[in-house]
Amino acid sequence: MKRIKLGSLRKFAVDSLVAAGVSSENAAEAADVLITTDTFGVMTHGTKNLYQYIQKMQAGGLDPHAEPTIDREGPAWAIINGNKALGMVSGCKAMKSAIKKAKETGIAYVGVHNSCHFGAAGYYANLAASEGMIGLSMSNADPVIAVPGGRSKAIGTNPFSFAAPLGDGTSLFLDIALSNVAALKVISAKEKGQPIPDTWLVDENGLPTTDADKFPKKASLQPMAAHKGYGLAVLVELLSSVVTGAGMLGEVASWNLDMSSTNNVGHAFIAIDISQMLPYEQFIARMQKLADELHQSPKAVGCDRIWLPGEMEWEKRKKATASGELELTDAMVKSLTGLSEMNGIKLNFIE
Ligand SMILES: NC(=O)c1ccc[n+]([C@@H]2O[C@H](COP(=O)([O-])OP(=O)(O)OC[C@H]3O[C@@H](n4cnc5c(N)ncnc54)[C@H](O)[C@@H]3O)[C@@H](O)[C@H]2O)c1
Repeated sequence: MKRIKLGSLRKFAVDSLVAAGVSSENAAEAADVLITTDTFGVMTHGTKNLYQYIQKMQAGGLDPHAEPTIDREGPAWAIINGNKALGMVSGCKAMKSAIKKAKETGIAYVGVHNSCHFGAAGYYANLAASEGMIGLSMSNADPVIAVPGGRSKAIGTNPFSFAAPLGDGTSLFLDIALSNVAALKVISAKEKGQPIPDTWLVDENGLPTTDADKFPKKASLQPMAAHKGYGLAVLVELLSSVVTGAGMLGEVASWNLDMSSTNNVGHAFIAIDISQMLPYEQFIARMQKLADELHQSPKAVGCDRIWLPGEMEWEKRKKATASGELELTDAMVKSLTGLSEMNGIKLNFIE
């Protein structure tokens, strides 16, 4: 198990993006998305993917120099063209725009098209929570889920997140793919040779399989909670792609298997300025009551703790930021080392 100082990882990420042609401001913003995600313990969606984003820039599927631009806007909404910039860059610009507009109008929606994989949805929802707002963030993705009754890939894992402030600098937040598990988790199990439950994939006949090796060619992901996750994935598609003009369903190419293609996914961000609806202190007190009542729910036999959505992630983040270090997964070490060998930028692990 290798460890790295958060500051070293940040410097490596920023230097690598700048060397690839990204402006230092956008590189710092993207590095913050990825490293915050790592500190939340979502190691499949943080700096591990930096190498692939940079390879995608080299292959022409992402434009390192691009800046997202506003297509159309109103007081409480905007549609942004990502212009093939990193999804993290468009995602931050869009959520920051939604927050700014919501300060005026109480609630705002900002959609993005012509974007790429934005990492973990939770980062953007938490941008709103850190401003005392409720945030929602979502993205469509290339189709990898078989819909109920289907046997081939029809819709993306369409990550969805909400976050609401808790008053102590943390938030209550859910950050999930709308498949039973994120595709990168299946790939991670496949790389480690680990068995998977029969609730993750269906095979080429539409039947459950435990063989991770079949993914992605001969197996599709199962939707979260059958028709319920399927329905929510359609909602994400509506707000992220149908409204924004991004690629829909089968129009979206895999961001990491088809490096030279423009991914053209869309994202959607919603910010709700709670303090315009009720006094903020009252909201925080009600959030605390909500949290307490959920925490005090009688525990099942063998369970020693009830968690709030997002609580595990905040505990991991607090541990990482207090120590200033991160324990890296093998997949992260492999990917970051590969990038370092490719771009010649030194990566300093803790010895
Ligand atoms: N950009 C993309 O295209 C894309 C696609 C898919 C997934 N993703 C990302 O992948 C990541 C992982 O997704 P996932 O579906 O595997 O997540 P997951 O199944 O690990 O669920 C994580 C969420 O569930 C909550 N949670 C877990 N156990 C809990 C418990 N016992 N009690 C209360 N809450 C609990 C966590 O706090 C967190 O909010 C997410 O960050 C998602 O945004 C991104």
